Amino acid sequence: MLISEIEKVLNEQISAEANSSQYYLAMASWAETKGFEGVSSFFYNHSNEEREHMLKLIKYVNERGGHAIVPELKKPPKVFDCLAHVFQNLLDHEIVVSKKINLVVDLCLKHKDYTTHNFMQWYVAEQIEEEALARMILDKLKLIGDDKGGLYLFDRDILQIKVSEN
Ligand code: FEO
Repeated sequence: MLISEIEKVLNEQISAEANSSQYYLAMASWAETKGFEGVSSFFYNHSNEEREHMLKLIKYVNERGGHAIVPELKKPPKVFDCLAHVFQNLLDHEIVVSKKINLVVDLCLKHKDYTTHNFMQWYVAEQIEEEALARMILDKLKLIGDDKGGLYLFDRDILQIKVSEN
């Protein structure tokens, strides 16, 4: 059985994952309108993965006797300046999500909820991967700069990158 404080932060995490999914969907749509097929596909996939992260939490909360709340979604931005801006936003957003996950983990330890603590380790590992991936992509984009040929190849090559294994 979940204690109410843990149930509350897990529901907040459900909301964070749902809003991440929504945010990346906006990035996918923007990239698609700009002709970046690879980047758009990357973000459609990423958006789906965030939805999976949300579902995993919903199932956990309900299985543990809590009540998972389906959250309201914020309207994400419609327009982004450039690819580097999009990936900087991705990295910044994942850093915020990592902090939220760490707070959940802290709370689990405080309340000796080792089951939820164990469950959350998957998210801790996932955040390390996602932040590293966003940093790696941003570094590539910095090297490419405004070079159109480079951006073309980047958009093609990103099709090979998987966000993570679920
Ligand atoms: Fe749900 Fe981007 O981690």
